[in-house]
Order: sequence, then C-alpha cells, then structure tokens
Amino acid sequence: MGKQGKKQRHHNQHKTSRRGGGAFFNSEEDDNDQYPPSSSTSKLTISDEEKQSEAEEEEEEEEEEEEAEGPSEDQNDQNPSTGDNVPSKFSLYQQSVQSPKGDISYLQKFFLMYVGGRLPLHLQEDFCGTALLSTEWLHTDSRRTAVGIDLDHEALNWCMENNLNKTGADGYSRIYLFHGNVLNPLEARLVKFENQYLLEKVTLSDVVDDGSETTVLDSAAQENPGGFTDGRLMKDFPLPARDIICAFNYSCCCLHSRVELVSYFNHSHNALSRKGGIFVMDLYGGTSSECELRLQRKFPNFTYVWEQAGFDIVQRKTRISLHFHLQKQQKKLRHAFSYSWRLWSLPEIKDCLEEAGFRSVHFWIRQMPDAGDIRSIKGFGSGRDVKYEEVSSFEQQDSWNAYVVGVA
Ligand SMILES: C[S@@+](CC[C@H](N)C(=O)[O-])C[C@H]1O[C@@H](n2cnc3c(N)ncnc32)[C@H](O)[C@@H]1O
Repeated sequence: MGKQGKKQRHHNQHKTSRRGGGAFFNSEEDDNDQYPPSSSTSKLTISDEEKQSEAEEEEEEEEEEEEAEGPSEDQNDQNPSTGDNVPSKFSLYQQSVQSPKGDISYLQKFFLMYVGGRLPLHLQEDFCGTALLSTEWLHTDSRRTAVGIDLDHEALNWCMENNLNKTGADGYSRIYLFHGNVLNPLEARLVKFENQYLLEKVTLSDVVDDGSETTVLDSAAQENPGGFTDGRLMKDFPLPARDIICAFNYSCCCLHSRVELVSYFNHSHNALSRKGGIFVMDLYGGTSSECELRLQRKFPNFTYVWEQAGFDIVQRKTRISLHFHLQKQQKKLRHAFSYSWRLWSLPEIKDCLEEAGFRSVHFWIRQMPDAGDIRSIKGFGSGRDVKYEEVSSFEQQDSWNAYVVGVA
C-alpha cells in the first residue's frame, strides 16, 4: 500500500474475536469455547499498543518507501535453523491467526446437526496452508484421515517438517497433502512425506556428485519446486469420500469470480460422501471490513499486525497484509502474508452453493464487539463468551464473523 490514505488510517483494537488470517484474530477464545481455557498470555494492552503503533506507523511509512510488495530477504527469514532465532512466519501465523480446536468443535457440531447418524472421520482442508487443522484432526481420533490442498509449496513443506512430524508415524499414513489448485484438484500432486523427501534429497546429491546425471536432475528439480511432490496426482488415489470439506480463514475470498466460486463448490460437492457430508467455510464482514484498517495484537514475543488496504466497492476487493514485529530480535516481517481478496456477501455464497448442488445452506454468525466496548478490556477481551448462532437474518454490524455450512 502506498502512502495514499495513510492519514485516514484508523487504529482499531476491537477485532479480538475475529478468527483467522483474514480478519484479525483467531483465537484462543475460539478454542476456549469448547476446550479448557489455554494458558496463553496474549494481551491487548490498548494504551501501550496505541503508543507503540504511532511510533511504528511513522517508522513503517519510512520503510514502505523502500520496500517492495513482497517480503525482503530480511523479512523472510523464517527458518529457525538459520540460527538467528527468528521464528518462521508460518509459526507466527499459526500462533496468532489459527484456532484449529475451535474450528473442529464447530465442524463436529455442524456434522451431527445436519447429517448425523455417524461420526465424521474423513476431512478435506482446502486452501490448507500449513495444514494445521488437518494435523489437529488426526490427533482427535486414530480413525480419522485428512486431505489437504494448497498452491503454496513452501507452506506445505513447512507443514511436513513442523506439523506432520508431531502426528507420529501413524499420522503420516492418514494424511494426504496435495500441491495444486482447488479449481483443479484432481490434477494436484501428492506431497512426499518428510522421510521420503529427505531420502530423495540425499539420493539427489549423491548422484550429482557422481557427475553424469546432473543436468537431468537439475531440470527435474526446477519443474518440481523443492522436489517435494510425488509424481502421483489426486485422481490416482482411492481417497475415502469426505465427510467434511472446509475452507477457512476466508480462503474463498481468494477466488474472485462467480464462475470460479461455483466451480470450486462443484468440486467440493463431488468429493463429499454420498451418505451425506458438509462443506464449511468462513467469512467476515461488517462496516469496518469495507474501509482501510490497521489492527494489531500483542503476543508475549511478537506483535501481529493486520492491514487492510482501501476497499474497492465496484469489485468488492481489498488487499490484506499480515506483518509480524519481533521485539526481542528487533525484526519486522513486513508483508509476511499478503492476499488479494474479493469480499463475497452471504447471499452470493448461498446462491453459488445451491447452484453447485448443495441441498441446504446455513449461516452461523457471531457479532463482534465494537470499539467502545473493548477499549476498557485487556487480555482476551470481549467476545470470549460470544458464540456463533444460526440465523436467517442479521442486522449489519461494525464487524461480524460467519461460518457458512452447505449440506450435500
Ligand atoms: C488465507 S490463507 C488460509 C490458510 C489456512 N487455511 C488457514 O486457515 O489459515 C489462504 C491459502 O490459500 C492458498 N490458495 C489461494 N488460492 C488457492 C487456490 N486457487 N488453490 C489452492 N490454494 C490456494 C494460499 O496459498 C494460502 O495458503
């Protein structure tokens, strides 16, 4: 975002209950809805943040003059193995944005309400990123399986090395991660499991040392970034019919046209079990979502910043950037994640789901507290006790968050 409009930017701390990379926060309070409260100490210390944010904003304005759109080398130092103690941007994202336990509780509840008669065992997480939800899903029941798909090979790779390794040997046999486009899922490529991937890397360098096949191997590695996908495609696998498919953290906003959205919902509908299944996505909105906005939240070791560029009312598009400020390391991961989103409306989503064959569509909405309420609250803040409720109509608010459930 350029300098234009910066002066109109308003600092806003009141989205504490929004979950997601998209709209601001996950977060612990979502998990706390259904699980014992976590001992996490993330804080919303408004006055400190306000002071800090003023200073940071000035600093950032200077930085932005020099920064390109994407992360610089300095910003993108995500690998803890570099030894500089800068956590990975994926790790920071998972801590500040995601709330897999809360999501899973709602997924189970929706499945039992709208399908019932059996336990949901087979999940597909579209736009999965680091597939944190999928790995959590595997933890909840040893019979459960998960399929994840994403375009970002770096995120999938990170998942293998940092999330999947915590599921145990058995976990590897119950998850399929695919690198590809949700608009063409059957052509997505299977990601190799960590040990298979590492083995390949060793083999690759051995052969390269040998000399003769260097060129062939190099070009194969280029076609296949990181050499981390298997040759096999999703269509080559007899995957179990999915009980639940989800697309969280506003990922459907990555699809910009109605044709794409209906096509995506068609693929989801086809992958769901004929015995009954659900598609669940989330969406945010409200008057505050249609303007320039900057929010930040303090965690013990870093500050998470959500930046929303101006909102185009003709295309209903905005650009979202996530930044992380690491105080201890005196580093800023600016534009660690950046998305171009179309903010779909709830009735548009409903129409497209119905067009794709879903027999009913349900809205579960949670109103977010407004700025006035939250200014006096520290810690997890208001919104902690506010649950999602099924609604058929809902008055516009400053901010709301929704789960949309399509029943196949
Ligand atoms: C907002 S992030 C959400 C990540 C994760 N689902 C979460 O809950 O935090 C959107 C993700 O969608 C992926 N993505 C965007 N367009 C995609 C597409 N057409 N097919 C597959 N993945 C896509 C991006 O790479 C990114 O990882």
